[in-house]
Amino acid sequence: MATVSFTQMKQGTKEDYQLLHQYEAPFHSKTAQRLIAELKRQGQDSLDGYPISRLEHSLQSATRAWRDNANDDWIVAALLHDIGDGLAPQNHDRVAAEIIRPFVSEEVTWVIEHHGAFQMIYYAHHLDGWNPNERDKCRNHVYYQSAVDFCERWDQNSFDPHYENQTLAFFEPFLERVFARKAYAPQTIKAGIMSGLPPASATAGETVTTKQEQGE
Ligand SMILES: [Fe+2]
Repeated sequence: MATVSFTQMKQGTKEDYQLLHQYEAPFHSKTAQRLIAELKRQGQDSLDGYPISRLEHSLQSATRAWRDNANDDWIVAALLHDIGDGLAPQNHDRVAAEIIRPFVSEEVTWVIEHHGAFQMIYYAHHLDGWNPNERDKCRNHVYYQSAVDFCERWDQNSFDPHYENQTLAFFEPFLERVFARKAYAPQTIKAGIMSGLPPASATAGETVTTKQEQGE
């Protein structure tokens, strides 16, 4: 494989940078696969003490979104919302947000970016010096309610070892579709538009048969 002529970027030629540009598209096309590898790693190594791994939590969250007939943006966001846990446990929400930002709506990115603060309503009152109402700082934001709903319906409740989630392989096409999108396309970003989560499905919170099993 051809390589560039430089050892310092400022010495690079037009041909060097055109060569690198050629390699970008095939490299970008494997982003979904690299994310899958990290999700799999979270099945082996995640924070102790929970009844299920971070991978299983993420699959459960994505499955709840899927059973609520959420769009690809929400399903992929639910699948990836904790993918930063391993490398940036203190700011994992922002890591996940930056991964999805070019490819999903602004609303979905904002929800993932802030979900850490919104989750505190469920546990921070048990810890000295923590503020369970951290989310109140965003109370007037256009996407506030979407973050409240995401945490309530798809995140805080997704630690059930008996929930029948879909597999990582099931969600692979969702990841491939979303990360194959043109980055930052205005029709994807939908800046300033609040759509909210879809209505909750009657079966979303239960251990249920899958859509395929129901013949859909
Ligand atoms: Fe989570």
